[in-house]
Amino acid sequence: RQADVLQHSITGSLTHPNVLALADRLASLLPSPDRHTLFASDGCSAVEAALKIAIQYWYNLRRPEKNWLIGMDQGYHGDSLGALGAGFVDDFHKPFEHSVLHHEKLPFPRPSADDPDGFEPSRSVIERHAEQLAAVIVEPLCQGSAGMRIYPAGYLNKLAGCCAENEVLLIVDEVAMGFGRTGKRFAFNHAGIDPDLVTVGKALTAGYMPMSACIVKDSIYNTFSDEGSTDCTFYHGNTYAGHPIGCAAALAALDIYEAEDTVERAAETAEKMRQWMQPMAELGCVKELRFLGMIGVVELKPEAKPLIEKIKQSLFEQGYLFRPLGNVFYLMPPLIITADELRAAIYALQQTLEEFY
Ligand SMILES: Cc1ncc(COP(=O)(O)O)c(C=O)c1O
Repeated sequence: RQADVLQHSITGSLTHPNVLALADRLASLLPSPDRHTLFASDGCSAVEAALKIAIQYWYNLRRPEKNWLIGMDQGYHGDSLGALGAGFVDDFHKPFEHSVLHHEKLPFPRPSADDPDGFEPSRSVIERHAEQLAAVIVEPLCQGSAGMRIYPAGYLNKLAGCCAENEVLLIVDEVAMGFGRTGKRFAFNHAGIDPDLVTVGKALTAGYMPMSACIVKDSIYNTFSDEGSTDCTFYHGNTYAGHPIGCAAALAALDIYEAEDTVERAAETAEKMRQWMQPMAELGCVKELRFLGMIGVVELKPEAKPLIEKIKQSLFEQGYLFRPLGNVFYLMPPLIITADELRAAIYALQQTLEEFY
């Protein structure tokens, strides 16, 4: 239907009804709805926009020295050179290590008795560099590409507080976790925070069209004005940003998520997934199980490495496409997976692991 009305329009100096409706809709999903949205076409381009907005925000405020961007060690935010400057996975990005800026990283949280959220080492990085820092960017609660590494919501809560105290913007990259993956609409909802910038992609259109967005607080947006003595316009865009058909797909997906209570139902299915996967903890080859909403992770012991490809192949022959990350097998199924489908996939994984060990 949308293709018959308007199949394409750029959004630079122009707009169209779908892009306005989707911007309003996204703003309404955030804790503080005073927001504007910049659209892009995939997760990486939304991240790239967020990073540039953060730098130009401080430039607009006449504080150009605040131009550093830092992420968490082994974070992943896409494959552009800009995204590699803030997120860098050693296993994927080694050839580019001398071509991207590497400021100090936030260490991955290691909770301890004295520091239950594992935040204190990150606090010291932020406080040490606050004068230069434009923004911190993180994958909320789960580092996907690094091997589905999960960290406490308390860390994210403290990170938001620390960024605010030190005049550093917080970018929460919800490209992988957004729209129910963790059992809440956004992963950052577990931490009770209201990030300055939020990037979304993937599930925004339920995978039907490439579409992504960077949702920004109005206090940031308002500094991008061309009305003062200095032109503070954000000269940035992509041809397909805010594509009318992509927006229509996103609006339809958000309607369906709401009508079918997709997020609440995913939280219930997640509980079943945890119960059904639990017996795998007893297998001799398993180092650890980890869970976060509709993410179930089986990390195998290091000695399992030579068998990973064979296990993957055997599962493929049974009709299951697993994509292990190093020694990590994980389930990240569609939120609408049925109980029977999910149980069968878990059973296949368990049986196959038992067979090989
Ligand atoms: C957290 C995160 N950010 C950004 C991206 C990049 O998204 P895209 O592959 O759509 O460019 C990904 C992709 O997996 C991601 O997981």
